[in-house]
Amino acid sequence: MAMVGEGVQFAREVRLVLEAIQATGGEAAGDCRDILGAMPADLPPPRPGPKLKVAGLLDGALGRANGTPLAALARAAAPIIRAAAWFDSPQYRDRGLDPRFFDNYGFVKFMGPGTNLPGRGVAAGFLMLGPDLLYPAHAHPARELYIVLSGTADWQRGEEGFLERRPGDTIVHPSWVRHAMRTRGETLLAMYFWTGDLETSARLLPDA
Ligand SMILES: [Fe+2]
Repeated sequence: MAMVGEGVQFAREVRLVLEAIQATGGEAAGDCRDILGAMPADLPPPRPGPKLKVAGLLDGALGRANGTPLAALARAAAPIIRAAAWFDSPQYRDRGLDPRFFDNYGFVKFMGPGTNLPGRGVAAGFLMLGPDLLYPAHAHPARELYIVLSGTADWQRGEEGFLERRPGDTIVHPSWVRHAMRTRGETLLAMYFWTGDLETSARLLPDA
């Protein structure tokens, strides 16, 4: 049997998940259509680079994705995430966040500016948040789709209260709508997709 490359396998699993979400006809259906239109059949390898401390939580998060609706995607994503550079948000420094925040927050990118797949109008990657952590209210001009791979956590959007989101759940954040996440005892691993303004970073917001 021919070896299927990691990028092909990963792209295939991402497409399957996006198609399934699109087929529900829910809030994220249009996002999935747009993202699928931008997705190649083979995702190039991520750019390697430094790991952040949060990367030490990856294997545990991937392990807990076993048995969830997105286990196959998590398996296909594992080598991609392991090879990737980790980023945080320098604009969040000196903003009075929990001192544990920067040891427990980071993301990798596989599509969009700063990756080997720029110029398709979509930025995508994986966010990880360690246990018992608040990622306070923030916002950005890009529209955002999150798909939870691992870790049940509480997510807050706009004027809504915190809502429990589980592996397999999707969350849409329209442009500039404030959002926050609060993890429980488990690391959160979620895939994100940005469309629209990909160049303007998120900013923290004053407490509502
Ligand atoms: Fe966001």
